[in-house]
Amino acid sequence: MIEEVRALINKDLPLVSNLSNVSALLNTLGDLNWCGFYLVKDDVLYLGPFQGEVACTMISKGRGVCGEAFKTKQAIIVDNVLEYANHIACSSRSRSEIVVPIIKDEKVVGVIDLDSPKFSRFNMEDKFMLEEVAKILSELF
Ligand code: SME
Repeated sequence: MIEEVRALINKDLPLVSNLSNVSALLNTLGDLNWCGFYLVKDDVLYLGPFQGEVACTMISKGRGVCGEAFKTKQAIIVDNVLEYANHIACSSRSRSEIVVPIIKDEKVVGVIDLDSPKFSRFNMEDKFMLEEVAKILSELF
């Protein structure tokens, strides 16, 4: 996946073009009902390119798993979103989730968000892989 992301992105293209294709690539990981990006503007997360169902368009810092990853600058794995108090249910099908911040010059510029209809879909290997992807993507901002 990491090599595929490197090969897919092109710094001469608009950010939205690159992230759209990367969301399609991430979707091939399987067992996902949503995957994509939220991007920071004026200290708020706004919906970016994604694959999956219609999603919430705005998430404030600290709110939901995405807002929490934005605030803490840390990746978060939620094995069971139904038991996670700070979860925003965009899709009733989601059962587990991983959110990884994209950090540029020590600031969060966006997050990668993957949702699965399966409980405990994401492990540390996914976390390390997505952190590497986030590092590569940070060069586009
Ligand atoms: N579940 C996320 C909201 C975004 S959707 O999953 C696409 C959250 O709790 O931040």
